[in-house]
Amino acid sequence: MGKSKKYNKTKTTKKIHSEFEESAIRDFYKKILLIQENERRRISRDLHDETGQMVIALGAALNIIERELKKENIKKAMKVINENRELIQNIAKKMKTMAFNLRPPALDILGLSAVLREFFSQCTKSNPIKIEFKESIKDINLNENLEITLYRIIQEAVTNILKHAKASSVRVDLTHDKSQVSLLIKDDGRGFNIDEYNDQADIRKMGLRGIKERVVIIGGEFSIESSLNKGTTLKISFSLDKASKQDSVDFDLGTGI
Ligand SMILES: Nc1ncnc2c1ncn2[C@@H]1O[C@H](COP(=O)(O)OP(=O)(O)O)[C@@H](O)[C@H]1O
Ligand SMILES: [Mg+2]
Repeated sequence: MGKSKKYNKTKTTKKIHSEFEESAIRDFYKKILLIQENERRRISRDLHDETGQMVIALGAALNIIERELKKENIKKAMKVINENRELIQNIAKKMKTMAFNLRPPALDILGLSAVLREFFSQCTKSNPIKIEFKESIKDINLNENLEITLYRIIQEAVTNILKHAKASSVRVDLTHDKSQVSLLIKDDGRGFNIDEYNDQADIRKMGLRGIKERVVIIGGEFSIESSLNKGTTLKISFSLDKASKQDSVDFDLGTGI
């Protein structure tokens, strides 16, 4: 009798635990789906706004070329062809950048530091901004999920700076000690009102929310400070311990559902 009582108790405890786990897994999935959806939205907007416009311009150029050729006006047709070579190069460049942003191929081969250096060098080539990058992560072995998460966070934060901050310089510190990895991204730009951003539920502005979600998923801490004309500072940290546990959650999710 006593034995069966004990058994029941254990069973009840186990049930509560698994219900808790189930709801955590559901939450986790919801977050992943939301991030995925937001990224699709961003890619679709990029495709439409940038590449789409250029392809339309190219179509218009083809019409002009056709018209001039029909008039046997070869010189004019050649002129339009030459003018549009640059447009084709721009489309190719834009597509290359988009493909790279979807999944930086070098991440697997060169690692996070090298890929970030390349990303920053692209940013400073096409924008009047200085990026100072300090890192001490080469000597630790971050798993692939963490690398891609950090890459995405830094990519979004730095893109925000280029798009919105009008900053002249940016500092990116990616460091670690025995127990945690810390990321600081600080710009000297015009800043913004964080409360206003938090209050509005504009689904087009999901970059910062995406960063927050990613940090929550890896069990990290997120803070952002910004004041008008005094720049923005984003701080993120997560424990290496929790991050490696996150891997086992991934594993359970992959096999359990
Ligand atoms: N570093 C920054 N400096 C100035 N403003 C910023 C910065 N980062 C974000 N913002 C502001 O916060 C808003 C929300 O950013 P985000 O969620 O990434 O959306 P999006 O970049 O698509 O506008 C931006 O529209 C911008 O006004
Ligand atoms: Mg953004």
